Amino acid sequence: MTKPIHAILIGAGNRGAQCYAPYAIAHPDELKFVAVAEPITERRKTFAEQHLIPEEMQFESWEPLLDKPALGDVALICTQDWQHTAPAVAAMRAGYHILLEKPMANKLEECKQLLQVSQETKRQMRICHVLRYTPHFQKMRELVQSGVLGQIVQVDHRENVSFWHMAHSYVRGNWHNREQSSPMILAKCCHDLDILPWVLGQKPNKLASVGSLMHFKQENAPEGAPQRCLDGCPAAETCPYYAPHLYQDMAPFWNSIAETSTGFSRWAAHQYTENPEMIKALSWVVPPLKQMTDYTGWPLTVLTQQPTPESILEALKNGPYGRCVYHCDNDVVDHQVVMMQFEDHASVTLTMHGHSHYEYRSTRIEGSHGRLLAEFGNGGSWIHLDEHRTDWHKEFDTSAELGEGHGGGDFRLVASFLQSVRDKAYEESLQGAREALESHLLAFAAEESRLDGKFIEQEWWS
Ligand SMILES: NC(=O)c1ccc[n+]([C@@H]2O[C@H](COP(=O)([O-])OP(=O)(O)OC[C@H]3O[C@@H](n4cnc5c(N)ncnc54)[C@H](O)[C@@H]3O)[C@@H](O)[C@H]2O)c1
Repeated sequence: MTKPIHAILIGAGNRGAQCYAPYAIAHPDELKFVAVAEPITERRKTFAEQHLIPEEMQFESWEPLLDKPALGDVALICTQDWQHTAPAVAAMRAGYHILLEKPMANKLEECKQLLQVSQETKRQMRICHVLRYTPHFQKMRELVQSGVLGQIVQVDHRENVSFWHMAHSYVRGNWHNREQSSPMILAKCCHDLDILPWVLGQKPNKLASVGSLMHFKQENAPEGAPQRCLDGCPAAETCPYYAPHLYQDMAPFWNSIAETSTGFSRWAAHQYTENPEMIKALSWVVPPLKQMTDYTGWPLTVLTQQPTPESILEALKNGPYGRCVYHCDNDVVDHQVVMMQFEDHASVTLTMHGHSHYEYRSTRIEGSHGRLLAEFGNGGSWIHLDEHRTDWHKEFDTSAELGEGHGGGDFRLVASFLQSVRDKAYEESLQGAREALESHLLAFAAEESRLDGKFIEQEWWS
């Protein structure tokens, strides 16, 4: 049995405690948390209980924890976007290799500073670009790089944010404001701006971007809509963003799973939205259905620590997620397109919008010798390949197991990070950190282009 790598967690919220830390429970021989910093008492205590962390290793904030000599080898930094740089710098200086949530920082200069500190301290800085670790995008990259498509001429990649996820995270939630969190193109699409050059094996040399906030504004509110959905909204039966519809019925959430899955999962998720009582009854004889009927995961855990019908109702009455989407203080865009020319002259578009009926990314790659079509969703994913001359057609199911976060990317990222720490693969990781920085620079460039209405050339980000 190998000795587990000792880790500290900074920020025991959704990503830290619920997406990455469960890796330590599933693989105790690889990872063990020895300390946690988290200001919210209930989160800190719950995490400490789950990972058997003694009282003296529980901290209310990262500063006193990082003032100590390193307690382990790695630090997971999973605070909010604007709170990444200070703990990341302190952790690397204290001697930890870091797994740092994306975006690495929400300010351009801070992103550069982080890479510099990683170089100075020779500490690994792995950015949580989870898509790189999914079977889906790894297969796509392998196919493109095999040359089967010939010369890549045009790429159309879409990040279709569902209407309910947009309302949840980018209108009512944590990423609603550019200054307080990040511009949408950085928050949501630094993943895509990382994946596209990685899949294509080449970089963009110029870009331009357009986009705006069109819909989630006061002027689009239904007549008479109050500040909060539960305060007698006249559009309760018709508004797609009506909070009890999103968080009590959860129909749009399960529809998204259904639309992107196949077989039994597809059938069950559809039925659950239409006939929940039948699925609840069936779950007694088909236990996997309890994943649905007993579901208390994201996004409910963002509303309340322990989701129950009572705590959800309380959150809708008093918390930010019960607000009318037309009466929030949001300013991030709800649609944006980035148009890029790559080194080989391929034209590439990245479209992000927050009005999709269900949540998925789609990719279309047109080459001189073939075409690739792909969808990556919460319920499953696929890639189809067609060769021009032979009309040869091949389908790949790239789905991860249902319930694996980000199409399997979350756990595979942690596994890869731990492996590179064990291997002391610093140079390789530095290359990864540089590429992560490049994706962020592209996002900042796209935002500048959107605001200033101009093309931006490669010198800006290289
Ligand atoms: N990789 C991905 O695909 C992905 C997906 C979603 C979110 N994210 C990113 O992950 C990060 C965290 O998002 P989240 O949804 O988990 O947020 P969250 O709010 O659930 O978690 C952040 C936690 O940090 C804690 N915190 C605040 N101040 C602290 C301090 N001084 N010391 C220690 N902890 C402190 C908060 O109390 C909270 O529990 C964000 O930057 C977000 O953009 C990444």
